[in-house]
Amino acid sequence: MHDIPLRKIDHVRFFVGNARQSAFFYRNAFGFDVVAYAGLETKVRHEAGYVLRQGDITFVLTSPLSPEHPESQRLVTHGDGVMDIALDVPDVRAAFEEAVRRGAAPLSPPEAREDEHGVFETASIRTYGDTAHTFVNRDRYRGVFAPGYRPIDPERYHPSTARPVGLAAIDHIVGNVEEGKMNEWVEFYRRILGFEQLVSFDDKDISTEYSALMSKVVQNGTGRIKFPINEPARAKRRSQIDEYLQYYRGPGVQHVALITGDIVKTVRAMRANDVSFLRVPKTYYDALTDRVGSIKEDLAELADLGILVDRDDEGYMLQIFTKPVADRPTLFFEVIQRRGSKSFGKGNFKALFEAIEREQELRGTL
Ligand code: FE2
Repeated sequence: MHDIPLRKIDHVRFFVGNARQSAFFYRNAFGFDVVAYAGLETKVRHEAGYVLRQGDITFVLTSPLSPEHPESQRLVTHGDGVMDIALDVPDVRAAFEEAVRRGAAPLSPPEAREDEHGVFETASIRTYGDTAHTFVNRDRYRGVFAPGYRPIDPERYHPSTARPVGLAAIDHIVGNVEEGKMNEWVEFYRRILGFEQLVSFDDKDISTEYSALMSKVVQNGTGRIKFPINEPARAKRRSQIDEYLQYYRGPGVQHVALITGDIVKTVRAMRANDVSFLRVPKTYYDALTDRVGSIKEDLAELADLGILVDRDDEGYMLQIFTKPVADRPTLFFEVIQRRGSKSFGKGNFKALFEAIEREQELRGTL
């Protein structure tokens, strides 16, 4: 099917209870620079927003300032989470109209907002759960982020005090959907946005003694935008996807994977900043060389940090997962370094799921 031209992920918007404090967390734990702000001081009355940047990654953190905010109920229902994966497109109106013509549910119609920095265009459609895709075009906009936003007050966050950890770009963003719904959402991305299906894993690939899931990956024509979709599979005990669906109250973004060029350095820095990562047992590293062959990194260092490795025909990749970043066991992050491999770490799923199950056991949700 014909593509709707999508350039890249423009930004990921998180709707959170306290954007001011979340900005502090993503800055000091994940190494983002806080670059822009919107709120009462910039004449935005209904919400506060912080724009954070590291490499090519842009996160936006938004909090409502009153219960009349149209999204305020989202916090009670979902807790903190991803509300929008915004996509940079050459033509907002064309992308929106074509997506809606193909059956996408519209959320907000094309809008061109103007300020002294130019014209900023957006339009939004729905995807799984309460998650949106906003089409963004900023070709005629030279402001710091969008109308309403101003560069952050340097008294508050001075760029010279940012301490980046080497996160460079978004690799993929994973959605969790209900049992039996994965194929519908794969079809959504194929039919509406012209994505192609890349790989799939079934419950035989991704199961432990107790819990299981199924996963398919869709990507856009250029391969720059990758969205794996998970659904729980039947097993003896409750899948981690079920746990997510219960606590997020429905489908939503499970994790955002961030690329680094030096995972050892990045993870070391994030650990020093108090980011908690999932741990696999030390025995994982005993069999590692047999499984993935020779790698450039020092095995003892990987074991020390808990970094996982997987190999395919094209090379290998290194990855690690944070624990959930809020109190609900919902959203977490992945740090990934690719050395040729375009895969998603299938060989790590079992070790990883067992690690997640140990956490579920502690939470009493297995
Ligand atoms: Fe991932």
